Amino acid sequence: MAEAHRIVALPGDGIGPEIMAAARELLDRLGGFEVEEHLVGGASIDAHGTALTPEVLAACRASDAVLLAAVGGPKWDTTDPDAPRPEQGLLGLRKGLELFANLRPVRPSAALLDASPLRRERIEGTDLLVVRELTGGIYFGDSGRRDGAAFDTCSYEVGEIERIAEVAFRFARRRVTSVDKANVLETSRLWREVVERVAERHEGTELEHLLVDNAAMQLVARPAAFDVILTENLFGDILSDEAAMLTGSIGMLPSASVGAGGPGLFEPVHGSAPDIAGTGKANPLAMFGSVAMMLRYGIGREEEASAIESAVDRALEAGLRTPDLGGDATTEDATRAVLANL
Ligand code: IPM
Ligand code: MG
Repeated sequence: MAEAHRIVALPGDGIGPEIMAAARELLDRLGGFEVEEHLVGGASIDAHGTALTPEVLAACRASDAVLLAAVGGPKWDTTDPDAPRPEQGLLGLRKGLELFANLRPVRPSAALLDASPLRRERIEGTDLLVVRELTGGIYFGDSGRRDGAAFDTCSYEVGEIERIAEVAFRFARRRVTSVDKANVLETSRLWREVVERVAERHEGTELEHLLVDNAAMQLVARPAAFDVILTENLFGDILSDEAAMLTGSIGMLPSASVGAGGPGLFEPVHGSAPDIAGTGKANPLAMFGSVAMMLRYGIGREEEASAIESAVDRALEAGLRTPDLGGDATTEDATRAVLANL
């Protein structure tokens, strides 16, 4: 028998532990995994005073893939610039594992076409991928406070833009829509220049540029027209939450963060939902989708990845609806429904 894949599981905060428990049931069912659980985010702040310890980062580096549920919550909300924040755990992992490419596929399940706040005719046929740059831009630029003012710096190097653009073109089937704010920002003008150059190496794939405000509008006006959306860190953060609603709920969107070839990190796009933590009502489907992405992009078990996605679709077709989708299925109901369809 092949050696087991070593997975580091990071449940984190809020609903994190509940949906991670669901994911572990799924992994147990598939078999062939050795799972090691660690603290991250607020849970790690409570235990160690920091959102990500060097030991946990080292464990992640030594794994085949990292599965993360969610971090954050009101308990750790603070405006004190010196206090630790749960999100530092996630950002530290992204940077520490050099996960510069964040893939967020948006493909509404046929059964949920009426669950979106947008009309069915609008979203039918939507099958897009947000390729978000994840280790640069304003998230990691110089920031601070001085003389009663605060600043955050956005900067991008050519190489950073080039490598994420390459990822976008690799995933594109017909078109890359590069999103920027080139009418205002210098980083966006460099972004455009570099993306144009990368496009020349990918004949046969169309390139279009959209300003981010326009992109936000087009995303709800004609979502089915998009193929790959390529964008920088902050714009990608915002647009992917918006795109999530095309699937009916942010509880549906998985993501993969990959980089220079080391272990990837796989996590649902939604947060820790502290308002429903502990109630057993969290939707585990984005987490299951993230397990599928882990199998596909992290460890090359494509067949099982597709099997999970089909099982989720079938469970939804059979009527599975968690509260975020207007139903009353619990996390456990949803897990059982998906496993039964696997
Ligand atoms: C996301 C989240 C994170 C981000 C937060 C939790 C730091 O919103 O993954 O989209 O802004 O990247
Ligand atoms: Mg976000």
